[in-house]
Amino acid sequence: MTEKSIETLAVHAGAEPVERHFGAVSVPIYNAALFAFADAESGAQIHNYEAEGYFYSRLGNPTTDALEKALMELEKGAAALCFASGMAAITTTILALVEAGAHIVAPASHYATTGYFLEFLREKFTVETTFVDATDAANYERAARDETRIFYIETPANPTLQITDVAAVARAARARGVVSIADNTFATPYNQNPLALGVDLVVHSATKYLGGHSDLSAGALVGSEDLVEKVRHSTMKLFGGALAPNTAWLVLRGLKTLAVRMEKHNANAARIARFLSENPKVAAVHHPSLETHPNHDVARRQMRGFGGMIAFDIGTLDAGKTFLNHLKLCRIATSLGGVETIVQHSASMTNANTPRELREKAGITDGLIRLSVGIENADDLIADLGQALEKI
Ligand SMILES: Cc1ncc(COP(=O)(O)O)c(C=O)c1O
Repeated sequence: MTEKSIETLAVHAGAEPVERHFGAVSVPIYNAALFAFADAESGAQIHNYEAEGYFYSRLGNPTTDALEKALMELEKGAAALCFASGMAAITTTILALVEAGAHIVAPASHYATTGYFLEFLREKFTVETTFVDATDAANYERAARDETRIFYIETPANPTLQITDVAAVARAARARGVVSIADNTFATPYNQNPLALGVDLVVHSATKYLGGHSDLSAGALVGSEDLVEKVRHSTMKLFGGALAPNTAWLVLRGLKTLAVRMEKHNANAARIARFLSENPKVAAVHHPSLETHPNHDVARRQMRGFGGMIAFDIGTLDAGKTFLNHLKLCRIATSLGGVETIVQHSASMTNANTPRELREKAGITDGLIRLSVGIENADDLIADLGQALEKI
């Protein structure tokens, strides 16, 4: 059979054999922390991964397993591991791959808490990170050292929507024997498959588009069997940031509509990016769909769609606050990827604690607004954004 399309995969990925759950079309929620064994011998085998089965939910649960299988298929990986949040996925993965004195190369524009974690590694464990302008993939190789263990990518990047050439960074990583990791939260597997572009590992905040309804926290890691299993049996086992089966089920339900939601997010965002770029109150608009985006060609090459996230600049800190305070439909909140349109002002919210010089290096100007475009009617959204822009 030919490879399934992303729309079909979103609905059917991870489908279990009929005998497994009495034919239940929706995978049941196994609310069990532990699993009893038939006898001592089978217990020993399951515990030692010599026979199929479960023993303790921190290390495996049938509902979470079903989600891992679905994510494996959607991201085109050989193995997957779910976590209680995106940060649990990111920190647990990175910690499995570094030792004291190791070095990481990461993008200057990144999710703020990922940056705080990399700083924490420097302060506490002498693991140093060089933050580079990731819009030029060659900067990864330029920053690399003998001790470099990870090339970390986030594309499109939070909150600037900068684009990194995934295949080029993955090639450079492979040539050096460095592990490449891509945070695919903004794009989702609907728009982009970094593993197919050559990276070793993909991480996700499933809190965002994968769940899709702003009602859960979850994270995921997908990639090669050896690397994912290394994380599962080392830091995952030690730190225990496992995903609860109830939440795994919610993410599985969210995935069924990933394709239809992303199609609408993509279409609405492209229209709104055009609207904003024609509005005189807006100094700059960052969305990979725009030909003015500096890496529009790279985005075209590596993405199927340009995603639902937009950043735009309205000049000053005060303008940012005034704009937010006049919105009537868009929700002011510091998350993204839900069905509802969500707006935040990075300089006064997520990056309020980032020193100005680092903010500026990352392209986070005082008037930068981050918009997570929802699946509402685009005309309604444009009307709301337009009337709030008139107030600044
Ligand atoms: C790109 C990106 N990666 C990771 C995370 C962290 O995910 P979580 O909030 O689920 O821990 C976020 C959260 O906003 C994010 O935007």
